[in-house]
Amino acid sequence: MAISENARAVLEKRYLIRDEKGEPTETVDDLFHRVANAIAAADAAFDPKADVAATASRFYNMMTGLDFLPNSPTLMNAGRPLGQLSACFVLPVGDSMEEIFDAIKNAALIHKSGGGTGFSFSRLRPRGSTVNSTGGVASGPISFMKVFNAATEAVKQGGTRRGANMGILRVDHPDILDFITCKNDTKEITNFNISVGITEKFMQAVENGGSYELVDPATHKVTGTLNAREVFEKIVSSAWQTGEPGIIFLDRLNRDNPCPQQGEIESTNPCGEQPLLPYEACNLGSINLVTHLKEEDGRWVLDKDKLTATIRTAVHFLDNVIEVNKYPLPEIDAMTRSTRKIGLGVMGFADMLLYMGIPYNSDQGVAMAREVMELVNTIGHEESQALAQVRGAFPLFDESTYRNGKPIRNATVTTIAPTGTLSIIAGVSSGVEPVFAYAYIRNVMDNTHLIETNQILKNVLLSRGLYSEELMRKIVEQGSLAHVDGIPEDIKRVFVCAHDVSPIWHVKMQAAFQAYTDNAVSKTVNFPNSATKEEVAEVYTLAYKLGCKGTTIYRDGSRDEQVLNIGKVN
Ligand code: CDP
Repeated sequence: MAISENARAVLEKRYLIRDEKGEPTETVDDLFHRVANAIAAADAAFDPKADVAATASRFYNMMTGLDFLPNSPTLMNAGRPLGQLSACFVLPVGDSMEEIFDAIKNAALIHKSGGGTGFSFSRLRPRGSTVNSTGGVASGPISFMKVFNAATEAVKQGGTRRGANMGILRVDHPDILDFITCKNDTKEITNFNISVGITEKFMQAVENGGSYELVDPATHKVTGTLNAREVFEKIVSSAWQTGEPGIIFLDRLNRDNPCPQQGEIESTNPCGEQPLLPYEACNLGSINLVTHLKEEDGRWVLDKDKLTATIRTAVHFLDNVIEVNKYPLPEIDAMTRSTRKIGLGVMGFADMLLYMGIPYNSDQGVAMAREVMELVNTIGHEESQALAQVRGAFPLFDESTYRNGKPIRNATVTTIAPTGTLSIIAGVSSGVEPVFAYAYIRNVMDNTHLIETNQILKNVLLSRGLYSEELMRKIVEQGSLAHVDGIPEDIKRVFVCAHDVSPIWHVKMQAAFQAYTDNAVSKTVNFPNSATKEEVAEVYTLAYKLGCKGTTIYRDGSRDEQVLNIGKVN
């Protein structure tokens, strides 16, 4: 197995089964056997004569070859009593004490099992409105979000991973202005990502410089009007300051809602890539593009035959996950099995471009994104249709937007996940993001500083006789290759890092993947610290124009505890 020491450490710390003393009782190899066997077992439900062992072996080889990995909860929980295998959930939040605290309880159960939850708070009556039963005054969505946040803090997912939440408020909710700035104190509501739910009507008003109405969700009465451009500028200003809120385009999520009769999509999962109906869950999985390259005449090219085979096996795998999954609530079980959404995506995209010698921020890079994702989407749908012939279409097929086409097993097939942990396990760049840094300092015990270098860059520099510790130190100090002397231009052009990629190229890349993705794309548009609010506004507008389903931006240095840092040896 090609797993690095770093990846092994992550798996050992968080994914292996442990005894009461905290000692692992399985090896990394056992883990992959456990997952492969548990997921393959679903085949027997459709064909008593199915060769489950053969399927298990294909799943095992696909995972240990690092060709594909399912989302973390599947790795942690498959074949174990808890058996909760999905990363993404959306829970409804109704406008009553019972419904609000039911949602908090349900979220705690989901977090305990390693899943993340998204909520729309748009149905809650605004702050200051009357509470009929007591004659008191309502606290409003933001104060309840703080309760959700505190509950998440307390659960901490039993030590495996912290609970993550998405909080969404429609732009026409009367409390929207408070919501936009509710995370400006960066120590508040830390277990939430927040996004403003934007409507087409609002975007049109932004374009025309007009105003729009605020509506009380409890009474459906108009409570006031706001100038759309001013609100847009407030969102931009807050995002410039802290990275939040993001925006999601609600009408686009619903335009692509395959089962509109089940209601509106109001929210996504925590990282924004998976729009879901209330009580719906989705399991994700990502194909590692780096292991789908082959050498041809001394160049790396995409191995489309291998990729096609992996896509088919991955769709089969993810559909089986739904079959054996133990959902935390009966409502979630019913909803999720009726649409059978899966989210197949890719990781290691930037690394793939490095091997191919294609800059991320180029038309060729964007064309590669389209080519890869079109294949994943097309073959993914074909395989889901093939599964439907044996297993039947998803139960809501006849009322779905697919009803006039071929029966299909899964109401959605593709999603681009962040792959925060999966990419570490696979040892590749995360999701479809550019490489963040090519060299960085790692503090090890007794205060030694080790320079970690991107292996693809190291190999290229070695092959051209250019590699030296001193050169790497310069890359660490500058955070990028762009202005380091002694590196040839052709290498600089290809080995671009997230901060060398202008925000416009980040958005173009996101839009290219979105064009071939049923669900959404997890992507952060990185800005340098010196970026202006106008530049942020330009990106939001471009994301809208290019058909993205939402945007998240981050300006370097704008939050205290930044996860990834460039530059300075510390
Ligand atoms: O790589 P991994 O499978 O661990 O997860 P990811 O691709 O980084 O994130 C996929 C989804 O998992 C997120 O959008 C969340 O829904 C969920 N997640 C979570 O609940 N808690 C975390 N700490 C990380 C991810």
